[in-house]
Amino acid sequence: MSKKAIISLDGQNFDLPIIEGSVGPDVIDISKLYAQSGKFTLDPGFTSTASCQSSITYIDGDKGECYYRGYPMDVLAEKSSFLEIVHLLWTGSLPTKAEWYEYSEAIKTHTMVHEQMKTFFNGFRRGSHPMAILTSVVAALSAFYPDSIDVNDLEQRQISARRMIAKVPTLAAMAYKYSIGQPFIYPDNNLDYCENFMQMTFGVPTEKYKVNKVFSKALDKIFILHADHEQNASTSTVRLAASSGVNPFASISAGFTSLWGPLHGGANEAALNMLKEIGDVKNIPEYVKRAKDKNDPFKLMGFGHRVYKNYDPRAKVMQKTCHDVLEELGRKDDKILQVAIELEKIALQDDYFVEKKLYPNIDFYSGITLSAMGFPATMFTPLFAVARTAGWIAHWKEMYLDPQNRIGRPRQLYIGEKPRQFLELKDRD
Ligand code: CMC
Repeated sequence: MSKKAIISLDGQNFDLPIIEGSVGPDVIDISKLYAQSGKFTLDPGFTSTASCQSSITYIDGDKGECYYRGYPMDVLAEKSSFLEIVHLLWTGSLPTKAEWYEYSEAIKTHTMVHEQMKTFFNGFRRGSHPMAILTSVVAALSAFYPDSIDVNDLEQRQISARRMIAKVPTLAAMAYKYSIGQPFIYPDNNLDYCENFMQMTFGVPTEKYKVNKVFSKALDKIFILHADHEQNASTSTVRLAASSGVNPFASISAGFTSLWGPLHGGANEAALNMLKEIGDVKNIPEYVKRAKDKNDPFKLMGFGHRVYKNYDPRAKVMQKTCHDVLEELGRKDDKILQVAIELEKIALQDDYFVEKKLYPNIDFYSGITLSAMGFPATMFTPLFAVARTAGWIAHWKEMYLDPQNRIGRPRQLYIGEKPRQFLELKDRD
């Protein structure tokens, strides 16, 4: 017998089907509740509400585990490459050798952006935050590639997906180059995805750029860790924007916008700034005290997560990657790293953090790592966005194949004025 929940409203019972997922909590299907009972449900921040069905990523927040299409994410980070993961997220399977050849070559053919985009960049003020530029230029791709914007055409969806995953690193590197006043560096298709991104970011026309393999491997891992994370704020934003049928470039740029906030993708920049501000291990107790003070808006950046009530598995891989990078640089005794290690130790023993189950998240160590690799703090969120483009597109593609897909239209509990009479200006005192 199928499981159901019963809700009793004003003496009347309503049966609500319970739907089982393949793993994780069941959900109560309330989609017919309003039609049957005239009542909505209220759940600010979606703490108890699933917004869709998905088969891409599964997070077990209590155990601190994350799976992409059923594969443990930490294993993927160790053993595969970012572009393989993009294929996995988009299609549900890791590429075979034959698929890999076709797919990776196809991505390479899309790495350049329309030459006229260069002039488009010139409209921005030098020194602009790269995310400020990216939110606009990603949306502007729809003006440059109008031939792949028909969301109802499967083939065009495929082309625009490949275009985006190939071009977003080029745009991110261009945004950075523009912000520091250096010439743009064209993509080099002899390099792999991360090597290419690094040469476009750090290369200059006057010298041959030599890729550090430890760094490019670390970046690849960082991209895998950030590639998807089920229905987070930016992914849900992409889905909601796309549900109106708007073109893919506009939908993905909505993801960029949502990701930029300091509680989401902006936390890596904020976490590094915080560690620098703490500056010395001796100052940690003062900052921990502030984080616990309800009257102080200060939070430990890089700590806490809506879903993880255990150590974020991404943070574990990130911590190791951080050590690898600092070892490569001969900076194992880096002062900021020491502050991070000590802060983590103190917070994990503190009753406040223990009771609220606040653990380091992915952003805690990523800023130190990226900074050591030479990326300025303003590039941390763009890097996150490049990687998360993979997940946003996976969800966007999945949405279009979902027969339940319809325009997203949340309801509300209205608490404003009741209907009242309008008075013309001449009659108002
Ligand atoms: N420092 C101090 N207190 C915290 C923190 C923190 N970092 N995070 C949560 N709390 C407290 C919070 O004040 C609340 O206390 P109370 O129950 O007394 O009101 C309690 O812990 C529960 O937190 P919450 O605000 O209900 O948690 P949330 O699910 O709404 O927010 C979060 C999750 C990640 C936004 C939040 O933990 C936070 O602001 N962390 C710092 C920013 C950060 O690191 N963000 C990156 C998230 S991971 C990458 C990504 O997804 O983008």
